[in-house]
Amino acid sequence: MSPSSQPRSSSRPSRADRGIMDDATAERYIRNYGDDPTNRVTVASAGLKPGDVVLDVGCGSGPAVREAAARLSRGRAIGVDPSPNMLRIAADLSASHAERARMEFLEGDASHLPLAGHSVTVAWAINSLHHWADPARGLSEVLRVLASRGRFLITEDEHAGGKFGHGDAPFSDAAFVMRALEATGFVSVDISRHSGDEGGILIISCRRAEG
Ligand SMILES: C[S@@+](CC[C@H](N)C(=O)[O-])C[C@H]1O[C@@H](n2cnc3c(N)ncnc32)[C@H](O)[C@@H]1O
Repeated sequence: MSPSSQPRSSSRPSRADRGIMDDATAERYIRNYGDDPTNRVTVASAGLKPGDVVLDVGCGSGPAVREAAARLSRGRAIGVDPSPNMLRIAADLSASHAERARMEFLEGDASHLPLAGHSVTVAWAINSLHHWADPARGLSEVLRVLASRGRFLITEDEHAGGKFGHGDAPFSDAAFVMRALEATGFVSVDISRHSGDEGGILIISCRRAEG
């Protein structure tokens, strides 16, 4: 399947299909993965500058948003997630953070990012891409909101056979994701491997072209 051949649904999908977690699933997820090292590794790899405007697509409970905000002295960090339960937990966990004023959590999904064009300098999706209902459309949305030369990182755990995240979909194949990014219009597409607590972490990085 080509990266842009994902069918688009014309009717509104169910809550589950839109990636909205129920309370129990959200809380179980956070207990098991809420502080996953993929978040720290991504933020450390992003080369953040003090004035960056950071977007975390599928922010979950917000660990990477908090980590980013701590490194920004002028900018801000925005987490977007379709699950109100996740956003509530993210807001609770961030309430006493010293840089709370630099953080924002917004309801939305990768296919319809609630942000203006060219408004973000660094975006990432951590353990999130494989949840997106329409990954090709999500990549176009990230490109839309990125400023000129803005960077985008996609992080997933490396699974058996070098798989990029969970599942069997084409977007769990890193080479397919890299071709999809190029087809969307991203440039400087590259991949790096990092060590996590329990195995490899893969980060695909790219950027929006100048202009
Ligand atoms: C495995 S969690 C990862 C959360 C966080 N990035 C982390 O690593 O801790 C996946 C997240 O993707 C979100 N998600 C599901 N469908 C999505 C979509 N279409 N667009 C954006 N995020 C989505 C889920 O609500 C969930 O919070």
